[in-house]
Amino acid sequence: MRVLFVGDIVGAPGRLVVRDRLADVVSQRQIDLVIANGENSASGFGITPRLADELLKDGIDVLTGGNHSWDRKEILEYLPHEPRLLRPANFPEGNPGSGLYVGTAKNGVKYAVLNLQGRVFMTQIDDPFRKADSELEKLPADVAFVLVDMHAETTSEKVAMGWYLDGRVTVMVGTHTHVATADEHVLPQGTAYITDVGMTGPHGGVIGMDKEGIVRKFLNGLPARFDVASGDVQMNCVLVETDDDGPRNAAGRLRARSIERLRFCID
Ligand code: FE2
Repeated sequence: MRVLFVGDIVGAPGRLVVRDRLADVVSQRQIDLVIANGENSASGFGITPRLADELLKDGIDVLTGGNHSWDRKEILEYLPHEPRLLRPANFPEGNPGSGLYVGTAKNGVKYAVLNLQGRVFMTQIDDPFRKADSELEKLPADVAFVLVDMHAETTSEKVAMGWYLDGRVTVMVGTHTHVATADEHVLPQGTAYITDVGMTGPHGGVIGMDKEGIVRKFLNGLPARFDVASGDVQMNCVLVETDDDGPRNAAGRLRARSIERLRFCID
């Protein structure tokens, strides 16, 4: 089984590179399932119902979120009606939507996607580690593939989560920093891991936003509105291949055979 995870989609340039390149990548690389982080797709802040619908139509099977999941108020009503749009599971009980989705991939394999958010240098929400335990416990036994998107600021919290989940899930990807890390590998118990997948959007700015505005903010410390950057548009992804014939992991699920970083650019 081959699964593509697309890093944080930022603004119109991020959405356009997905529309431009994703379908070809899926057919050329024989991808069975596409998951993407979409919490920055509306001008860098949040996601709207229309954009979620578009991204799901453009070939993404499940969208994950993070700290910006709540930025657009119209999404609060949409979340309960679109289970393929996740928000971090460890926000307080009673918030709209869910952090867990169970579906069936193109190849017939039953899969789950779990979205978590870190707490270091971020909002103090519920413990993502214990939340991972309780969400994974809910999964039916016939779920063969599990991907976790851990949306977090610090490398240490993501590395720790990788070790915590090793042998229980097929993949753990980190998102949020918008800068890809070069540490993709398969952990000893079969979980594919990367600290951050990087961004799908314009790299001609500061993590997706216009460089002049961000530099000015570092100089003057005043509140400001930021625009999406332009230039050097990339789609940063990881491709995970599972070991379909080998032994299963400790939870009875597919182990990863490989994880590969991919970068596609618009000329
Ligand atoms: Fe984020």
